[in-house]
Amino acid sequence: MSAAVRIALTVNGAPREAEAEPRVHLCDFLRHGLGLTGTHMGCEHGVCGACTVLLDGESVRSCLTLAVQARGRSVTTIEGVARPDGTLHPIQEALAASHGLQCGYCTPGVVMTLIELERELAGRPADEATVRRALAGNLCRCTGYQGIVDAALSVLNAAAQEAAQ
Ligand code: FES
Ligand code: FES
Repeated sequence: MSAAVRIALTVNGAPREAEAEPRVHLCDFLRHGLGLTGTHMGCEHGVCGACTVLLDGESVRSCLTLAVQARGRSVTTIEGVARPDGTLHPIQEALAASHGLQCGYCTPGVVMTLIELERELAGRPADEATVRRALAGNLCRCTGYQGIVDAALSVLNAAAQEAAQ
């Protein structure tokens, strides 16, 4: 067993730090070190996407990322996407409205992936193929995906309409 090291980073805009062994994955560090249990662990080997978080704005599998790799960097988790007053992120609202979740286990990862896609599109409209390609790394065993795709298209295309005005 190796000695724990201090890991300081920014999480959801706030400085955080805790100790963890160098072998600890970011997902476990977030959940057990920092108490942020919204990031889910599914397959633990990079397939399901449930553990997706943003690291310096880019989506990563937190089950494949060591916590020490996030030292000094900025992590966004599902706990950081709603407004401070508790209002859900538009993607969360749309998923609820379109029945884009059932058990919700995949949902944090789906939300983080769609937030990244929205940023990459930068106001350009999205088509269904683009959304399905972006979500190809997020496995959902409940919904059949159509509700997730519908939610994504409604938010992304509303954002594109706003950008065009
Ligand atoms: S738990 Fe990380 S990809 Fe499945
Ligand atoms: S809502 Fe259950 S796995 Fe996606």
